[in-house]
Amino acid sequence: MDRKQFVKKFEQHFAGKPRVFRAPGRVNLIGEHTDYNDGFVFPMAISFYTTIAVFPTRDRKLYIRSENMNELIAIDLDANATRRNHWSDYVAGMANVLEAEGFRLPGASMLIDSDVPVGSGLSSSAALEMSAGLALLSTIGSELALEKLALLGQKAENQFVGMNCGIMDQFISTHGKENHALFLDCRTLDYELVPLQADDIRFVICNTMVKHELGSSEYNKRRAECEQGVTLMRADYPDIKALRDVSLVQFKKVQHKLPDIVRKRCRHVISENERTLQSMTALNSNDLEKFGQLMNSSHDSLRDDYQVSCKELDLMVELARAHDGCLGARMTGGGFGGCTVNLVLANSVDHFVENLSKSYEKETTLKPDIYISVPSEGAHELI
Ligand code: GLA
Repeated sequence: MDRKQFVKKFEQHFAGKPRVFRAPGRVNLIGEHTDYNDGFVFPMAISFYTTIAVFPTRDRKLYIRSENMNELIAIDLDANATRRNHWSDYVAGMANVLEAEGFRLPGASMLIDSDVPVGSGLSSSAALEMSAGLALLSTIGSELALEKLALLGQKAENQFVGMNCGIMDQFISTHGKENHALFLDCRTLDYELVPLQADDIRFVICNTMVKHELGSSEYNKRRAECEQGVTLMRADYPDIKALRDVSLVQFKKVQHKLPDIVRKRCRHVISENERTLQSMTALNSNDLEKFGQLMNSSHDSLRDDYQVSCKELDLMVELARAHDGCLGARMTGGGFGGCTVNLVLANSVDHFVENLSKSYEKETTLKPDIYISVPSEGAHELI
């Protein structure tokens, strides 16, 4: 839907001439479950967006209509809203953190539409938070630095929605650039936009079409296990603040002192940080084979050590790797379902997609959605 059509839709439901904002989902190429360990990630924004048309009202109420859900929700900004386990939590959460920052919002009519697949590990929640953040700020004629907006989105998700996520999703949703992936140091928030030579390769995203509900509780559990690892390793390395501060060599010296589960979790995070750094070197020297191998090891480590994969993700990865034109395949995002990301030679993409689709359906009876997205632009106003 282009801007004009979207505004027309808005006018079918609400009064006023709205402004329109949108923010993309993302696919993480490598660096999984490292962000909340102060580590490194390498995502790109995808060409799927959540779009919001917004017009201020004066009654301190948000009237939010979701096209996807065909639902109208009202949120009273004076009523101390709490989580309802509902899509509107992401908007209410953003309103909540913005007000806590001292922005007094007037109320607004909002129309939301999104083509980011929900529950697929492509960060539909960050896309909603970031588009809602821009939309809400516009009602008072304000803007925020993108970094600040991303941090507030993370805060909304941590404190309001109850998911202790890191900063990756909100950061890439705001900072994505066309034709670039983004290398981010999640401790300092220093980042580098890395051009992706898209001529001879494609990043193909394959949706397993399953989402296992334990996602967010297991996520919070992993995070706690990492923190436990840091606490225990401080006995030998008193200066460490996060797993980011421990090298693989240092880890190997003390790993026998850690409980089994904690050892595995730490080994994943520490090795994943090293892989992410190595993947930058590989890309810089255009060594795509190496990049693909690092993606493969990333998946194996997420499956065996971090234990956030599932049989559908493992199957999708295994089927992809059996294909000649596939240089690397891994799960992407939080895990327990959702998508894989595959590095595929451009000239074998059609074949890859057709084969994988058939073989996955044959094994599971599920027909996978497959997306080939170019790296896209981060959150912005549609003018
Ligand atoms: C989810 C979280 C991110 C990140 C990934 C795993 O997408 O929102 O912060 O931790 O999982 O890499």
